[in-house]
Amino acid sequence: MRLKNVKGAKEKIESSTYLIEAPNVYKGKYYEVFNNNNPIYIEIGMGKGNFIIENAKKYPDINFIGIEKYDSVIVRAVERLETEKIDNLRLIRMDANEIESVFDKEISLIYLNFSDPWPKDRHYKRRLSSFEFLKKYDNIFKSKKHIIMKTDNRKLFEYSIISYTNYDYKINEISLNLYEDNTENNIPTEYETKFRNKGLPIYKIDVEK
Ligand SMILES: C[S@@+](CC[C@H](N)C(=O)[O-])C[C@H]1O[C@@H](n2cnc3c(N)ncnc32)[C@H](O)[C@@H]1O
Repeated sequence: MRLKNVKGAKEKIESSTYLIEAPNVYKGKYYEVFNNNNPIYIEIGMGKGNFIIENAKKYPDINFIGIEKYDSVIVRAVERLETEKIDNLRLIRMDANEIESVFDKEISLIYLNFSDPWPKDRHYKRRLSSFEFLKKYDNIFKSKKHIIMKTDNRKLFEYSIISYTNYDYKINEISLNLYEDNTENNIPTEYETKFRNKGLPIYKIDVEK
């Protein structure tokens, strides 16, 4: 999702108390950001942030960090947060390619929601569930490695199942139509709501190793 330039986005983001401006400073000590040792869950490619914001409100004993690479997108979450006070939520503006320079063995769960599918074969390394990214995630997970992914994209879903299982992840839960199977405790993302409203199936996979 790349929105048009949003005037003043950079300034607005940088003045937000939710933004971690120099995220690599806290590498290995994110407990200092939150002032506690609660588990840290991250969403890579959080978009406008509905999922991560609502999760943080619902689960105050978990720390949540939303990661997004575009100013024009993250600014929408920042605007929404202007009237909120959520202690267990932070945002990081960065490309997930750099994720190993920001976290070190401190993440308990990664959410990948409606990630860009990068359909061309030559771009497969950019998919957030590719072998290249799974290797990076190894270094940021605390102990158990746990990924939960939702997508509308069947090809990305199939690719990801193979990628996870080839990398020895075990499947905890899988759904080919989330809204028919189990939406208990489900928090929708902006993309999810859009696709759901069009009657399209939402795929979900929860893996761990
Ligand atoms: C299709 S949107 C989905 C947004 C949101 N998760 C949702 O479900 O509504 C994918 C988002 O991931 C972001 N993104 C893609 N690749 C990324 C990367 N390597 N690092 C950080 N963000 C990324 C994009 O900028 C975009 O906002």
